[in-house]
Amino acid sequence: MNNLKQHRILLCIFSILIISCETHTQPVDEIETKVNELLTTMSLDEKIGQLNLRGTSSRVKGELPDSLKQAVRDGKIGAFLNVTNTAYVDELQRIAVEESPHKIPLIFARDVIHGYKTIFPIPLGIAASWDTEVAENSSRIAAIEASSFGIRWTFAPMLDIARDSRWGRIAESPGEDPFLAAKLSEAYIKGFQGKNLKDPTSMIACAKHFIGYGAAIGGRDYNTAIINDALLRNVYLPPFKTAVEAGSQTFMTAFNEMNGIPASGDKRLLTHILRDEYNFDGFVVSDWDSVKEMIPHGFAEDLKHAAEISLNAGLNMEMTSKTFETYTKTLLDEGKITISQIDKLVGDILRVKLKMGLFENPYREDKSSNLYATAHLEKAKEAVIKSSVLLKNNQNILPLAANTKLAVIGPLANQPREQLGTWTFDGDGKFTQTPIHTFQSKNVTFNYVEGLSHSRDKSAANFSKAMSVAKTSDVIIFIGGEEAILSGEAHSRADINLPGAQEDLIKELAKTGKPIVLIIMAGRPITVGNIINDVDAILMTWHPGTMGGPAIYDMIFGEDEPQGRLPVTWPKMAGQLPLFYNHKNTGRPVIPEEFVQLDSIPIGAWQSSLGNTSHYLDVGYLPQYPFGYGLGYTSFSYGKINLTDTIISENEELIVSVKVTNTGERAGSDIVQLYVQDVAGRITRPVKELKGFQKVTLQPNETKTIHFTLTIDDLKYYDNQQQLSVEKGTFNVWVGAHSATQNRATFKYE
Ligand code: NOJ
Repeated sequence: MNNLKQHRILLCIFSILIISCETHTQPVDEIETKVNELLTTMSLDEKIGQLNLRGTSSRVKGELPDSLKQAVRDGKIGAFLNVTNTAYVDELQRIAVEESPHKIPLIFARDVIHGYKTIFPIPLGIAASWDTEVAENSSRIAAIEASSFGIRWTFAPMLDIARDSRWGRIAESPGEDPFLAAKLSEAYIKGFQGKNLKDPTSMIACAKHFIGYGAAIGGRDYNTAIINDALLRNVYLPPFKTAVEAGSQTFMTAFNEMNGIPASGDKRLLTHILRDEYNFDGFVVSDWDSVKEMIPHGFAEDLKHAAEISLNAGLNMEMTSKTFETYTKTLLDEGKITISQIDKLVGDILRVKLKMGLFENPYREDKSSNLYATAHLEKAKEAVIKSSVLLKNNQNILPLAANTKLAVIGPLANQPREQLGTWTFDGDGKFTQTPIHTFQSKNVTFNYVEGLSHSRDKSAANFSKAMSVAKTSDVIIFIGGEEAILSGEAHSRADINLPGAQEDLIKELAKTGKPIVLIIMAGRPITVGNIINDVDAILMTWHPGTMGGPAIYDMIFGEDEPQGRLPVTWPKMAGQLPLFYNHKNTGRPVIPEEFVQLDSIPIGAWQSSLGNTSHYLDVGYLPQYPFGYGLGYTSFSYGKINLTDTIISENEELIVSVKVTNTGERAGSDIVQLYVQDVAGRITRPVKELKGFQKVTLQPNETKTIHFTLTIDDLKYYDNQQQLSVEKGTFNVWVGAHSATQNRATFKYE
């Protein structure tokens, strides 16, 4: 029997003994005792080792480099990222737990963002489901699949509020609203981590990027964030606060600076808010090289200074750059940091390793038979249906009759890799079910011509082939959007129209007079103003992942209806960005009757302020589609809002009720949304804020009364002094199908 096997058997016996005499997690003081025991005997080198997160390229083949093995043997590495070769994972872990001085296990990390092998819709798509069960299922399944490769730490969920669709990483975000994002935060963390951190399928979560990454100026990735304290507390922090409450074991710092301080060096964020205020007892990892990047930020003089700033700020682990490894000893000698600070930082990491049960059970359980399991694929398909947003459906062109003869055209109709979207290193295109695969397997009557070979293709060479197929069809299904690489990290776009010649091709196809259903696969809202009148229906599937094809089939043929609602405001053109529903009113809010359109201004008009309200002359004041919007295959009517009282006092509840009726001819669901506005505050308040949502499913003619409960706590907000409270006064409340609903009532807090 080789050493590894022998060790595993001993560990198993040991773990069985432990499990039989205790319940799920070790008592806290037992963990703290073990942390302290280790800290008193570990050498300084080993302590510094725990602060290092090392990357290896997942493409490395052949033997594991000896230098890496030796570093682990010497206790100089605390965790690895991107080791996907399971033989390496096993061997590195074996060296750590058998040969390193204190036998401290490693953690293996990876960006498992929206699935590992079975790929779910991109996170912005999951957010469009407004469904915490969908989010939890997606992350649980990701954890089950990834952990069988030894990956027990994911760099997800990303909780950056994103209000600018030019930003490439909006794809990975929960959208623009803090209330929705906080609900998703909890669900993702539950799913990744599972019920018990010691379960071999538990993958510890990493709430990222702390903080303000989504507020990059102009949507340019890595750019500066300027966020005042009220905005920080009311908008950007809530999903992160929830992450701590949900038990996220780790946080990741952001690349950006906020108000002049790079996140990896921000003591107020990492120590005062996260530790002192939120009582976070896990560990914080930097983003890739972000410690070192404090030099170009203009915040650190050199690498040693960067290490000093980050260690003092409370950063536990450094991703890839090596400033902690290189300079910690010197910084201690120079008195720039103390050994008790280092012990605290190391202790946080050891605590998480102990909570994960890695000391008793360091090895992965090979459950690779679970990869692409039928149950996983079913949940992935359900997630696409629940997150796809039907934006337009003229004359109910969708759903289509089963015998409709289709012309399927477009650069994303049969692109197994592209439909997986950003951050899908491990998803295998061979398992992707594209719309074309599904139409073939379901015997749909269709002809397929891609027309453009990829989403940026500018050539009209294949337009005529597409036209001849279109002419013989009943309906054209155009499947376009963006290739996966056009969104995600470092992939911001200034123009967010359909790229390449897609608009030209759609315009050409429209000349046939055949109805066009546009299916968009993309990582962000795509501005459709140039072609909106040429198409009859628009279905946004985001990048839908492995099961995009079957889900699209079910939706277009009416076996199910698209159920998503927008988690971000959909702009008419990029020039409107940033654009979000929960903005401030200004002193001159839009008055629709006073809107002045560019072309209505008389030539030679005398200098004046014309409409006198806050709007663009050319594109107006409305988005293309508001936050929360989405159609289904039936229609709903909303009754007037009923309040249990028009006055709410301290410690009281107000029940807000609305009758919702399915007025259409088939069963369907809607997401009933509740918004509140504090009419006048000690600082100005947003025009409305989401405070509740519920999904309702109704048969034709069925009515249900939906109730929401509001308390004074729901009305509280942070001011510029970071005080959380609310003053007495008037509040508006809306309940409807999206953020632009006019269904309003008023109450007072007295
Ligand atoms: C950089 C990204 O910003 C971060 O989100 C990711 O987890 C790391 N790289 C590791 O890949």
